[in-house]
Amino acid sequence: MLKITVLVSGGGTNLQAVIDSINEGRIKDAKIVRVISNKEDAYALTRARNAGIKAVTVSRKAYDTKQDFEEALLKAIDEADTDLVVLAGFLVVLPTKLVESYENRIINIHPSLIPSFCGKGFYGLKVHEEALKRGVKVTGATVHFVDKGCDTGPIILQKAVSVEEGDTPEILQKRVMEQAEWKIMPEAIDLIARGKLEIKDGKVLKH
Ligand code: GRF
Repeated sequence: MLKITVLVSGGGTNLQAVIDSINEGRIKDAKIVRVISNKEDAYALTRARNAGIKAVTVSRKAYDTKQDFEEALLKAIDEADTDLVVLAGFLVVLPTKLVESYENRIINIHPSLIPSFCGKGFYGLKVHEEALKRGVKVTGATVHFVDKGCDTGPIILQKAVSVEEGDTPEILQKRVMEQAEWKIMPEAIDLIARGKLEIKDGKVLKH
């Protein structure tokens, strides 16, 4: 049984998609052991508690130094005996020690087709604003393993979504979530839980 800790900062719709997929059997052999938020008012915490999952806040504000905060975050993940860390809208740059301790065991969802519209500064609505500004006709979402770079880790799954005339960043964000993010995030977790993925030369192979 794959033990998952989900890190969140906001609404938690991706978290909800994972919870539902586990409950409905689309993800097998996995359970969420803990949800950690850096924001105590994140609605994602309520979603976790409603599903009977232990939900805790590790806030930067509660610690004197960045180092203390980072150690507390790592401790909260370790304590849950975590096999896989899932970043589902976690708006904190991950501590190097965390990336090292959980090498190839952290995944992230990004709301574009990497390598477009990704890297430093590309998060939330900004990603969709830039896609619309550039006039792309297709965008989408990417689930990838996390390495020390920003959105540079091995790509697990991608799904394309059409851009329609008249889209606003908000409309496009919603379509990308509904048509791509909420599907490929659970799918990627299921593949990992069933031991189907291998990383070779920086690429993900599916067996
Ligand atoms: C999603 O757009 C995800 O791609 C990005 O942050 C957002 C999180 O939304 N990394 P939610 O909290 O899962 O609703």
